[in-house]
Amino acid sequence: MSNKEIVEAGKANYMNNYSQFPIAIKSGKGAVVTDEDGKEYIDFVAGIAVNALGYGDEEEKKALLSVIDSGVLHTSNLYYNSHAVHAAQLLNSIAGSKEVFFCNSGAEANEAALKMARKYGSEKGKSEIISFAHSFHGRTYGAITVTGQEKYHKGFAPMLPGVVYAEYNDLDSVKALISDRTAGIIVEPLQGEGGIIPAEKSFLEGLRRLADEHDALLIFDEVQCGMGRTGKPFCFQNYGVEPDVMTLAKALGGGLPMGAAVAFGKAAGIFAPGDHAATFGGNVASAALAEVMLSRLPSLSEEVMKKGEYLGKKLDELASKHPSLCTEARGMGFMRGLDLKIPPRDVISKCMEKGLLVCSAGYTVLRFVPPLIVTEADIDKAVSIVDESLSELEG
Ligand SMILES: Cc1ncc(COP(=O)(O)O)c(C=O)c1O
Repeated sequence: MSNKEIVEAGKANYMNNYSQFPIAIKSGKGAVVTDEDGKEYIDFVAGIAVNALGYGDEEEKKALLSVIDSGVLHTSNLYYNSHAVHAAQLLNSIAGSKEVFFCNSGAEANEAALKMARKYGSEKGKSEIISFAHSFHGRTYGAITVTGQEKYHKGFAPMLPGVVYAEYNDLDSVKALISDRTAGIIVEPLQGEGGIIPAEKSFLEGLRRLADEHDALLIFDEVQCGMGRTGKPFCFQNYGVEPDVMTLAKALGGGLPMGAAVAFGKAAGIFAPGDHAATFGGNVASAALAEVMLSRLPSLSEEVMKKGEYLGKKLDELASKHPSLCTEARGMGFMRGLDLKIPPRDVISKCMEKGLLVCSAGYTVLRFVPPLIVTEADIDKAVSIVDESLSELEG
């Protein structure tokens, strides 16, 4: 089938909740994907920060084939499976955490974290959650409620009660809201969908202090910025500020659906049997890929630290070269954005024509979240396509 046939069939049969680009991706190798018409693209979207190992990774392939050979793709959580147990062991040892709850997505991981905060606070009469402007935490009701962007709430009222919004990187705005009723604070250490906005160190340190003073849980949503993307296995490790709960998804399952709520210190032991569950949580196939991802995470992160600096330098150069279209480049590791003065979609379409996939974040930011295995040569090629596209749009 051609791109056109698949796109038309998709439009005829899907709900109209996405604004999709008119190609269908068929195959991939390394950091390159090929569409149904045979056109190749360097992929700086990676399934929106999911495909950390790129495409056609041999170890992932072996792991999945061995699960298929075992005949068991799924067990339910009535029983243990070695893959999920090993993935939890790896996660706890790399993060320094104590306990893991596996689920299927970022929104679901955040729902678990919010329930943990409310359960933790329940005996002390605490239930309020503080979240932040420009945040994004997912599309389920709890997750959209704590998402501090009006556009995601519009048409879906009422939201969950007991959520208040502070300003990101503004500790005074948190001090004005926090009280003895506060059960939790949820924050992305590096905001993604809101426009690639890194937290200041003093801000996260201040949140840690305030959460401790008020006996509230500090939740770091690392769904997008975790799993090596910022040059450390987990983003909080760049700041030296440990959360009580960290949420993960996206790259965790190596391309299969997997999320996790990870408990540190005082957050361990909150859930008792019956408090929370997910039928597919720790699914055998997803967990087998998580084992691959997590076992390679420390070395992968070191590579990202080096190559991410290179991408950052190149994007800074682009921003300086095109001041009429760019405000600034920002971000960490392989989670970077170029803030534009024009709609990102114009640049994205031009880049697609020239064989590069990039996506947007917020209203003005061109987002770069490539597979963590991209080379400097891939970066050079991607940046030169963006450069060319910006030059054409200037002209
Ligand atoms: C920081 C953050 N949290 C949560 C989510 C929601 O994840 P999911 O789409 O897997 O539910 C996302 C998705 O982009 C995200 O970036």
